[in-house]
Amino acid sequence: MKRKNITVNTMLDMKKQGEKISMITCYDYTMAKLVSRSGIDVILVGDSGGMVQAGYENTLPVTVDEMVYHTVSVRRGAPDMFIVADLPFLSYHVSKEKTIENAGRLIQEGKANSVKLEGGSYFAELISHLTACSIPVCGHLGMTPQSIHNFGGFRVQGRETDKAQKMIDDAKKIEDAGAFALVLELVPRSLAKRICESLRIPVIGIGAGPDCDGQVLVVNDVLGLDDTFRPKMVKDYAGLAAKVITALDNYSQEVKQGTFPMDENSFE
Ligand code: KIV
Repeated sequence: MKRKNITVNTMLDMKKQGEKISMITCYDYTMAKLVSRSGIDVILVGDSGGMVQAGYENTLPVTVDEMVYHTVSVRRGAPDMFIVADLPFLSYHVSKEKTIENAGRLIQEGKANSVKLEGGSYFAELISHLTACSIPVCGHLGMTPQSIHNFGGFRVQGRETDKAQKMIDDAKKIEDAGAFALVLELVPRSLAKRICESLRIPVIGIGAGPDCDGQVLVVNDVLGLDDTFRPKMVKDYAGLAAKVITALDNYSQEVKQGTFPMDENSFE
């Protein structure tokens, strides 16, 4: 059943009531129209779009302009949904002023409801500042893809006791700074559970196990649009890659055989 009118408050209530939050990434108008007709609660316009839409090797080349373009396209397709838009790499690292300007563009031009940024307690002051400027912020901890070079690859984070404790402390600081939710990516299930239990705000997991308050996945993975790439944390619910290729083969064959277009596809 589709929940209506999701807000930052609804999400807090959902956590209190033990109702899981479903979040999916989305990058374009057509997909946003489909998402808005489904039971999904929240859309994330992720900078993962740089990888699955533009074919970048990682999320680092994504710009604020690209994020604004994707976010407003999604908004046109999903006028009533709660949208979180990613602040891309280096868009919140230079200065407080530049951060407000970039986050403000995602809200004003992109028409997102909120922004997401990656990082721990170092960014707590910035999260307070954005929140005070009426820009709701979702945090993101664990395997934060913009720090790929620090991690040396897309690896599970927080396996060691000291790193796990640091992640718990970071999560608390992000909550205290005013974030309305936290994405936890690629962390051991037991650590994710501890973080969920120690926070008031909802924790949305991706590769963080079933105990999170909600889950987020990349829409291309959920639909199985790339059957050459399937990490353990994702589930293909539709197998669309094979279906798309078959449909395109059928179309191409009919064009070559002269069986498309027919009379019903033609005009007098
Ligand atoms: O950009 C993105 O899609 C994300 C999710 C993986 C959480 O940040």
